[in-house]
Amino acid sequence: MSDASVRVRIKRQESPQIAPRWEEFDVPRQPMMNVITLLLEIQKRPKTAAGEPTSPVAWDSHCLEEVCGACTMVINGKVRQACSALVHKLTEPITIQPMTKFPLVRDLVVDRSRMFEDLKRIRGWVPIQGTYDLGPGPRMSPVDQEKAYDLSRCMTCGCCLEVCPQINARSEFIGPAAISQARLFNAHPTGQSNAAERLEALMGPGGISDCGNAQNCVRACPKDIPLTTSIGEMGRQVTVHALKTLLTGK
Ligand code: SF4
Ligand code: SF4
Ligand code: FES
Repeated sequence: MSDASVRVRIKRQESPQIAPRWEEFDVPRQPMMNVITLLLEIQKRPKTAAGEPTSPVAWDSHCLEEVCGACTMVINGKVRQACSALVHKLTEPITIQPMTKFPLVRDLVVDRSRMFEDLKRIRGWVPIQGTYDLGPGPRMSPVDQEKAYDLSRCMTCGCCLEVCPQINARSEFIGPAAISQARLFNAHPTGQSNAAERLEALMGPGGISDCGNAQNCVRACPKDIPLTTSIGEMGRQVTVHALKTLLTGK
């Protein structure tokens, strides 16, 4: 390790069809730099530590304040956001690779579409008809608002899917983030109108029963979302809904 530069190892892959390779870079050290700053410096001068010219590394980022989830990658073996990963807190050389549970696009960019498709599966929204003024919605108590706020902080980053042993290229498991969003919208006074559809989505193939209860997800969530509590609560709602359907036929 040098005081003047930071040694970074990055897994590079031009496309899913091309074999990956590792490249090393020496990046001039700056105070309080984060991993996005490192990547920007490499983009300015794309040369390996051995002095070989190379292509700029591709990555995604938007908010730069751990709100959008776009910059999620595996840094020193831990899935996290690059924008909040401060270099002086990381062991060097720093190793950076893309998440493994999502299709690779290029270098550190992956396609997280499956998470957004899963939100569609559970109808992760509050339905309102039209764009005209509908008047005030039903009130929520401050206690319920606080609980909902915790769940609403999900940024669809993918950390929880990356660490979940039930998620792989062949599994249809919906994953903890969408299950927790179903809890959020089922608790909303207007969102409740679609509660049964959300529960049916969670009862279907790849639904909540595929969770193996390994609890990795709750430990990996950067927003401290109580994912295992959500899974437990939605498991209870699904059971009640299934019994009700069995007894009433609807
Ligand atoms: S509890 Fe385990 S199996 Fe279930 S969603 Fe979380 S990590 Fe996956
Ligand atoms: S639940 Fe947490 S780890 Fe999972 S996508 Fe949302 S913010 Fe990321
Ligand atoms: S850029 Fe948005 S979370 Fe890092």
